[in-house]
Amino acid sequence: MASQNPSKFYSKLFDLGAKVAVVIGGTGVLCGEMAWGLLQAGARIALVGRNEDKAQGHFKRWGSSADEARFFKADVTRRDQMEKIIPAVMDWYGRIDILINGATIAPPVPYLEITDEQFGSIMDVNLKAVHMGCQLFGKHWINLKQAGSIINMSSMAAIRPLSRAFVYSLAKAAILNLTQNLAREWAEYGIRVNALCPGFFPAEQNRAILDKQRVAAIMRQTPMSRFGDPHELVGATLLLASRQAGSFITGCNLVVDGGFAVMSI
Ligand SMILES: NC(=O)c1ccc[n+]([C@@H]2O[C@H](COP(=O)([O-])OP(=O)(O)OC[C@H]3O[C@@H](n4cnc5c(N)ncnc54)[C@H](O)[C@@H]3O)[C@@H](O)[C@H]2O)c1
Repeated sequence: MASQNPSKFYSKLFDLGAKVAVVIGGTGVLCGEMAWGLLQAGARIALVGRNEDKAQGHFKRWGSSADEARFFKADVTRRDQMEKIIPAVMDWYGRIDILINGATIAPPVPYLEITDEQFGSIMDVNLKAVHMGCQLFGKHWINLKQAGSIINMSSMAAIRPLSRAFVYSLAKAAILNLTQNLAREWAEYGIRVNALCPGFFPAEQNRAILDKQRVAAIMRQTPMSRFGDPHELVGATLLLASRQAGSFITGCNLVVDGGFAVMSI
């Protein structure tokens, strides 16, 4: 029998009312849009990053109130600053349900020229910070005996290593391994851990690397022959975040790439 009330059915499946999402790297383009999607589904949003102006820009665009979305300042490479996020969000809203781990830097460096300092700084933002986020929020939920959902931002670079993004590719591949490992480890606590793997979306971090030649190569390799729009990550985000819609999904790598990963002849 057809549903008499499809909108009620959908909203129940994806309802995040009274949930709180911490979006690390939410000051940026993709995670900012993902945060907007969570807000539309009813969640309160804690945007974590270094740049308050960018967060305020998002809030202005969204038309959100300080009760719905707030900025929490932290350099994600610093454990002392990461440790302050959970108490600050708990003081604000008293609960945390969802974590998005998405801060990034991706400076283009030819492989033979990568210095130890560059290697360390790219790994710190893209991998160490994701590990710290998982560790701190996982511990918080386990201690409270509360369920949670973690979405780690991986990348096409994890499954198709990208030229001029060697260290970034390493970090993003390691995120998939960490995600699978924690999904196994924490299923018994009701903590789901998944990765989201975007294809190519113009953002801040990849502006420098997207020259004419590279754009042409990406288009040739993308069956849909276009970049993604950040808005096209919202559906995947809600699926992974929602305890109703995503109840049996853990350890997955959800690819949103216009077909890039499966391009063949
Ligand atoms: N744009 C793409 O095509 C693409 C593709 C695959 C994966 N991704 C992933 O999606 C996520 C979001 O990327 P984006 O493209 O929106 O990038 P973005 O540059 O727009 O956003 C990244 C954010 O991380 C913040 N950040 C960097 N270092 C930080 C630090 N030390 N402390 C706190 N914040 C810090 C930046 O200020 C920025 O706001 C990243 O994990 C990225 O690797 C993006």
